[in-house]
Amino acid sequence: MPRVIDQKPQQPCTLGDAVDAIARAGFDPSDDASVSGVARWLGRLMANRRFLGDILIEQLKPLHRETSIESGYGPQAIVLSPLQDNVFLRANIWPSPSDHCFATSGAESFVYGVPHDHNFSFLTGGYLGPGYRSDYYEYDYAGVAGFAGEEVPLRFIERSALHEGKVQLYRAHLDIHSQLPPESLSVSLNVMHIDPAQSWFDQYGFDLESGTVTRVLSPNSTETFLRAAVATGHGDAIDLAEHFARSHPSDRLRLASYEARSMLCESAEERDALWREAEGSGSRMVEAIALRKRAMLAA
Ligand SMILES: [Fe+2]
Repeated sequence: MPRVIDQKPQQPCTLGDAVDAIARAGFDPSDDASVSGVARWLGRLMANRRFLGDILIEQLKPLHRETSIESGYGPQAIVLSPLQDNVFLRANIWPSPSDHCFATSGAESFVYGVPHDHNFSFLTGGYLGPGYRSDYYEYDYAGVAGFAGEEVPLRFIERSALHEGKVQLYRAHLDIHSQLPPESLSVSLNVMHIDPAQSWFDQYGFDLESGTVTRVLSPNSTETFLRAAVATGHGDAIDLAEHFARSHPSDRLRLASYEARSMLCESAEERDALWREAEGSGSRMVEAIALRKRAMLAA
């Protein structure tokens, strides 16, 4: 489960002080000293019981009716600082089943009951309320190819809540959680670590009962652009897709290059030949899907 960082009571600080101090020091989730230092600043910000209310009130004042709170992650998240040197801060709102938005939008829109890992590390602290609860698991990312239905050994760790004052480090590609709503509206504060390479490493959804990968959750615009470019039938796009299929470091891009080109195939034989090539691509994930595609073509 995420590593719990013991916190002594901290002197409150302003949001600006915390943002500046964390930007100056940097945040390296793999370095214990860096994690402790950033956690201390997060603890100081959590001790400031006014700053978030001030931000929300400012946005809600009638004179500011036409503005909206900067989120980038939907109405559940509030971005508290711009990205600086791979770090930004945000607040997350966790409605309970008795909150109106829970009833109208449904549990899934707040990621409750959607087991997932993260392709980034982040420090999080319970700022307000009893906190969402999570069933925590760990898994071996290096052992996963990443196709839907793939069996993954999941190690259950515990169920616990991110209660007020608790700080923990979620470790990329290791911690899985399935969240349950809090008993009453809760808020967490996050220090997010953004690695430029992270978009090439997928975030997965999991089925806990069958112990399998359900799908890749992380968006990837390069993949979407590649699929669209190939769909136009442009020769250069097809050449690029062939190149990606052979040598791109991301399995996901390699699969997308085969899927996109298979849409252009004019016969089942042509499609089968393409997926036969994919079987020998050297990617376990692409190979597993290619085998399925060929079985479906043969059926
Ligand atoms: Fe999560």
